[in-house]
Amino acid sequence: MIPVTKTFLPPKEEYDALIQKIWDTNQIANGGPLHQELCQALNNSLATEYIILTANGTLPIQIALMSLAAEGEVITTPFSYIATTSAIIWQNCTPVFVDIDPVYLTINENKIEEAITPKTTAILATHVFGNPCDTEKIQELANKYRLKVIYDAAHAFGVKYKGKSLFNYGDVSTCSFHATKIFHTGEGGAIFSQDQQVFEELFYRHNFGHKGSLEYHGLGINAKMSDLQAAMGLAVLPYVKDLIKNRKELIGLYEQNLDFNSIGKIKIRKDTEWNYSYFPILVENEKVLLKILKVLKTYNIFPRRYFYPSLNTLHFLNSTKMPVSEDVSRRVLCLPLYQGLKSQEVEMICRLINKEMFKH
Ligand SMILES: Cc1ncc(COP(=O)(O)O)c(C=O)c1O
Repeated sequence: MIPVTKTFLPPKEEYDALIQKIWDTNQIANGGPLHQELCQALNNSLATEYIILTANGTLPIQIALMSLAAEGEVITTPFSYIATTSAIIWQNCTPVFVDIDPVYLTINENKIEEAITPKTTAILATHVFGNPCDTEKIQELANKYRLKVIYDAAHAFGVKYKGKSLFNYGDVSTCSFHATKIFHTGEGGAIFSQDQQVFEELFYRHNFGHKGSLEYHGLGINAKMSDLQAAMGLAVLPYVKDLIKNRKELIGLYEQNLDFNSIGKIKIRKDTEWNYSYFPILVENEKVLLKILKVLKTYNIFPRRYFYPSLNTLHFLNSTKMPVSEDVSRRVLCLPLYQGLKSQEVEMICRLINKEMFKH
């Protein structure tokens, strides 16, 4: 079977050696030595300043919202994973969708201003597939209307934009370290901030609101990453550069072999050092997409409709139409991409897709 992704597992003896430290210190939770080591290692490798490691990549969005914009309307993108929108609703805020740019697939920065009302408190935008949003324009609007900016950077591990980590834009960036991501801790995630005060606020909130052992800063939740998760992160981190290099090669192969006369692809924003985290293609329409899925399935190949559906169409929302996002969601397909995917397999996937496209 060729799935859309496969988790990279580091050599087991390297993970075991890290886990041994838990037995040596008897510390496995509440920010033990491995947790601290991973914070340091990530700040060093990403050139970020303040990091909080979390149990997954969804809680950080909720914590960021609660800390920065606990009420009102939050402007967001309909083309993201459900966690982006559900976090807004979970925080009792109202998601206000702004359609996406058809080329970059990130929130359309030129449509944000018309969605701002006196109730708007924040912009929560996703760096879709690791492709940066227009951070300058978004910051300009945030400054003008005194809004907070939170980036769902779940896909952006290792991405640099204009020479610095993409996590260093906006008030807060969140990331997912889920097993499907380039850098992972099994389940896991992180919050990044460049401001010490914001960091402290976020830190309290991710640890029940504790300020010291007996005092409470305010309302919080338990979002802490365990040392077991951190051990996986420490074992995976040394391989990330190679994983990205391998993905770059595989995407190069897809690009050589697919017939782009009839297939569209995402444009990566200028000045981006991308992480090649996904390889989405855009086909002509949903009918063609379903036919491709059917053909590939007969060969045991499973790409993923990602993101689908457009979040504004969720049945528990009563939202306005988002024509670009709805159209893209119906036509987008992320092709298999993982360490260990063979070049012959990529070539076969391309042949099957090209053949199907030729029929239309
Ligand atoms: C854009 C985006 N945001 C948030 C999440 C949630 O991350 P997690 O699964 O770690 O909670 C994901 C997960 O894939 C995602 O793709």
